[in-house]
Amino acid sequence: MRMKTQFFTASSLDGFIATDEDSLDWLITREHFPDGVLNYRDFIADVGAIVMGSTTYEWVLNSGEPWDYTMPCWVLTSRESLPLPAGDANVTFSNAGIRQVHADMVDAAQGRNIWVVGGGDVAGQFADAGVLDELIVSFAPVTLGSGKPLLPRHVELRLEECGQNGEFLCARYSVVR
Ligand SMILES: NC(=O)c1ccc[n+]([C@@H]2O[C@H](COP(=O)([O-])OP(=O)(O)OC[C@H]3O[C@@H](n4cnc5c(N)ncnc54)[C@H](OP(=O)(O)O)[C@@H]3O)[C@@H](O)[C@H]2O)c1
Repeated sequence: MRMKTQFFTASSLDGFIATDEDSLDWLITREHFPDGVLNYRDFIADVGAIVMGSTTYEWVLNSGEPWDYTMPCWVLTSRESLPLPAGDANVTFSNAGIRQVHADMVDAAQGRNIWVVGGGDVAGQFADAGVLDELIVSFAPVTLGSGKPLLPRHVELRLEECGQNGEFLCARYSVVR
């Protein structure tokens, strides 16, 4: 199967992936089965490269959890550099532009998928560049009222698959071009 560029994330029902203060407390304690519908384990098994904005990267770094991504990671930032994770993580800081970053990721992924980790505007930039293929969202049963948006663009989608995993409504959409 052809490799895909996928935005895989979790969201509140009203379309926010973090609070205004970048908190995920509303998300991380909820029931989600590792072998359920559209689970992370099956998803990550096919991923060959990942990309995230610097806010998401700093959240991961400051979470206290070890860096557990074995594949190369691009971090979008206008800054010269940011702290690196402990260990031998393969992290590239870039402001090269989405098309160039995507081309470099396709080379690195060697036929496997590309995961756009977030945030929502980064996923939007990949959609703007015409290289986003899929959106996979686990919707938590909560509304936040405000926060960091899921995908702040007009992007037409086709529902390909959906189901319940624990507390989550999970859906996979293809991007209609
Ligand atoms: N619910 C979930 O599953 C989930 C998933 C992912 C993330 N999150 C959370 O959602 C929040 C995302 O926050 P966010 O959307 O505000 O931020 P973000 O996308 O993670 O990072 C935005 C920052 O990345 C840099 N950047 C973005 N595009 C760039 C480009 N093309 N070239 C160069 N630099 C670029 C800019 O920072 P600088 O240039 O200043 O470095 C920008 O301010 C975080 O709290 C994260 O932890 C949640």
